[in-house]
Amino acid sequence: MSTPIRVVVHGALGRMGREVVNATCKDPDLRLVGAVDAKAEGNTLPLPVGTGTVPLAKSLDSILTQVQPAVVVDFSNAEASLAMVRLATKHKVNLVIGTTGLSPENLDEIDRLAKVNGVGAVVAPNFALGAVMMIHLAKIAAKYFDNVEIIELHHDQKLDAPSGTAVSTARAIAEVRGKPFVHPKVQKETVGGARGAELQGVALHSVRLPGLMAHQEVIFGASGQTLIIRHDTINRECYMPGVLMAIKRVVDLKGLTIGLDRLLGLQ
Ligand SMILES: NC(=O)c1ccc[n+]([C@@H]2O[C@H](COP(=O)([O-])OP(=O)(O)OC[C@H]3O[C@@H](n4cnc5c(N)ncnc54)[C@H](O)[C@@H]3O)[C@@H](O)[C@H]2O)c1
Repeated sequence: MSTPIRVVVHGALGRMGREVVNATCKDPDLRLVGAVDAKAEGNTLPLPVGTGTVPLAKSLDSILTQVQPAVVVDFSNAEASLAMVRLATKHKVNLVIGTTGLSPENLDEIDRLAKVNGVGAVVAPNFALGAVMMIHLAKIAAKYFDNVEIIELHHDQKLDAPSGTAVSTARAIAEVRGKPFVHPKVQKETVGGARGAELQGVALHSVRLPGLMAHQEVIFGASGQTLIIRHDTINRECYMPGVLMAIKRVVDLKGLTIGLDRLLGLQ
């Protein structure tokens, strides 16, 4: 059996970070060796499966020298993530980043720093394998339909609308089609906004309700038929197979890989 991959979680006390700590501890191919979070109190994190503790710190710097991980997994915020990248790549550590809100310039910098330091970086705005498949299937269908609308449904605490996944789905299917979709206007919108937002001819509708997690429907329409591709998540565990796969693959990569498509053989 090969040596387990040494993992540090950055943002370890957040909602996603806690899931990653849990999932990493349960995977025999991985070893959680440290945790970092700005709101850390104390210097140890008890492991959820009752197998002891790992070092915990507010600062990545001290953890990197102390535990020498092969991979840092980051679910924090864009600013903290970028600071993490600059430091971790200097230490020749590979990166798996789920934090959203990184700009194209940030991604260029991550690619450059990863290449210069000979490490891999996977940045995925959505680690749920089903969501990746939804976009992939929608891209296949996109060539054969002129009309499409997206309904995304999320919990009421979500800060932004439409969701990043809805926006990237719209962009991806419009790119495959090579021109905007047909967006029929109504003669009279009796309540403003009823037809949703519009991106590349794709109508985008955002539902925000307590009781929901993250859901999306891509609805293609043509004469006499519709095709609906729908993805539902019910908890944050849905992201973990994608995160664990990225950790295991990133150690063999160099430079930046965006999204999971390539890792899943979809490109
Ligand atoms: N890629 C995906 O599939 C996916 C899925 C869900 C959420 N996300 C993204 O992951 C990120 C985190 O989401 P969340 O719901 O876990 O948020 P959260 O607020 O629950 O957790 C973020 C954690 O980062 C910590 N943090 C902030 N600044 C830090 C710093 N400088 N150093 C170390 N730790 C720091 C915070 O203390 C907090 O514990 C967001 O950007 C979110 O959009 C991505």
